[in-house]
Amino acid sequence: KKLIIINGPNLNLLGTREPEIYGSLSFTEFLEEIKEKYGNAELDYYQSNVEGELVNKLHEVGFSYDGIILNAAAYTHTSVAIGDAVNAIETPVVEVHISNTFSREEFRHTSYISPNARGVILGFGLQSYELAIQSFL
Ligand code: DQA
Repeated sequence: KKLIIINGPNLNLLGTREPEIYGSLSFTEFLEEIKEKYGNAELDYYQSNVEGELVNKLHEVGFSYDGIILNAAAYTHTSVAIGDAVNAIETPVVEVHISNTFSREEFRHTSYISPNARGVILGFGLQSYELAIQSFL
């Protein structure tokens, strides 16, 4: 299976950013772990802090990959463009969040991704990504 994890803004700072919410492991360290663990899946990774670049990446992979694991981070709650892109592509998208966005501020309770996602996994820390990978295997 050809899968890709796409991370949105500020997730490049994982490990140092608000570790009480997001944990102290960097995403690069975590990625190495899961690449080993799910060695039979082909697992790509992309991160951008730029909304349009996330849209471009969804278009690029969205007609050939078997699955997309998307944490659009703050754009989840604001981006009609990313929501539309998820709707426009063929590859199924599983939306993930590290934190339980529903136990946080009100503005994190809405998602432009969810209506077009195959499923949503949130609140399990970095394990949310693993559960999403498993859903495609
Ligand atoms: C997040 C939750 C978002 O509300 C927040 O803006 C993030 C990370 C998460 O993974 O918990 O940047 O997507």
